[in-house]
Amino acid sequence: AYTAEPFVPGRGGLAALRKAAADCRGCPLHRDATQTVFGEGAAHARVMLVGEQPGDQEDRQGKPFVGPAGKLLDRALAEAGIEPADAYVTNAVKHFKFTQAEPRKRRIHKAPSLREMTACGPWLAKELEIVEPELIVVLGATAGKALLGSSFRVTQVRGTVLEEEIHGRRERLVPTVHPSAVLRAEDREAAYRGLVADLEVAARALG
Ligand code: URA
Ligand code: SF4
Repeated sequence: AYTAEPFVPGRGGLAALRKAAADCRGCPLHRDATQTVFGEGAAHARVMLVGEQPGDQEDRQGKPFVGPAGKLLDRALAEAGIEPADAYVTNAVKHFKFTQAEPRKRRIHKAPSLREMTACGPWLAKELEIVEPELIVVLGATAGKALLGSSFRVTQVRGTVLEEEIHGRRERLVPTVHPSAVLRAEDREAAYRGLVADLEVAARALG
């Protein structure tokens, strides 16, 4: 089975983890992507935000949430009163998956498979172990399934505080929609207000 496990160092902090992830060959996604996009933020951030996987811009720049979805997320976080300094931002899958009709044509995002999500899981597990956030904000269905299993339904639990055991630790989580879904929504303003409202629940849970 595909797995990142043999590439994950047994010890060391976030810097060591990020360095090792740069060489991960745990699943086939590393082949076509430019680079591993690891999480970013303070080592002891109070809140960890988990997205799906890097997009086109993230793949080029090597940082999570720097493209259009990231800009929208930054704005929503600011409006909800969550400080960037308190946040660690990462993804369930750390390489960009895409299709491309021809070389030099636009690269179109493809959803990661369950196998790829499972393969990449050990990186996220380590990030949680090191950062030990007080709260996890789950951005969309892929992150939810990666953390809580395949029965996760974002519409059923968004904007609520869940308590679940993850990798042997009791975690508090607030799920919401993925910021890319806001960008695609027919009523973008309503979708954006919904995202901010969910992030306000997270901000209150942080206290
Ligand atoms: N979408 C994600 O899920 N993650 C990113 O880093 C960018 C877009
Ligand atoms: Fe490794 Fe994850 Fe990249 Fe697959 S997607 S190669 S498991 S870092």
